[in-house]
Amino acid sequence: MMGKNFIVVAMDGGAATGKSSTSKILSDRLGLLYVNSGAHYRSLTWAILQEGIPLDRLEKIEAFLKSLKVGVKIEGNEAHITLGDPIPGKEIRSQTVNEAVSHIAAIPGVRKFLLPHQKDYKKLARQHSFKGLIMEGRDVGTVIFPDADFRFFLVADEEERTRRRQGEGQIDSIGKRDRLDKRRENAPLFLSEGAIEVDTTHLTLPEVAKELTDFILAGIK
Ligand code: DC
Repeated sequence: MMGKNFIVVAMDGGAATGKSSTSKILSDRLGLLYVNSGAHYRSLTWAILQEGIPLDRLEKIEAFLKSLKVGVKIEGNEAHITLGDPIPGKEIRSQTVNEAVSHIAAIPGVRKFLLPHQKDYKKLARQHSFKGLIMEGRDVGTVIFPDADFRFFLVADEEERTRRRQGEGQIDSIGKRDRLDKRRENAPLFLSEGAIEVDTTHLTLPEVAKELTDFILAGIK
């Protein structure tokens, strides 16, 4: 890792473990392009629901995917997926999407559709002169970038995570979503060998951010 001038950081973990807030801080401090891969699944889920396609109609979902024009919009140091018009907004965090997203994310065709797009962010980060890429999700360090320079895995008690979501005004069945994400056959959520597990239950956001920033800085010195 010595003298690395471009790094890839994978930030995996269950819902509301602190992935987004931590990743955003690391992206600011270290000059990394930030990508939330959960938002990719949320945006697709929202588009599928808008289209009125029932979640169990796999052939319809796969045909719909083929009709989408996938693109990227960079705002500051964050890259967002676009799926043509209209651009998905904060509706992707609605209760309806929260309830449907793990079902959509378990469909192999959906994951196969998103994977090349997700891998492309590394090239995009280089093209836009970022010092690296930080991507958060469930399978970033296992499937998307198994060779990432840093692979973190955040965990926190369910009670604390529910409190965090409620504080954000969100209704989210965290435990149910985690179980679906862990049990699916395709790219399940799990702590892979070599990933660094961080329990955020009793840590403040600045504490988590400092711990991980220090760890990365020590690794690239
Ligand atoms: O990070 P999030 O809670 O916004 O993610 C929403 C859902 O997307 C999550 O329940 C599972 C799915 N997901 C996934 O399967 N793989 C990823 N890399 C990111 C998210």
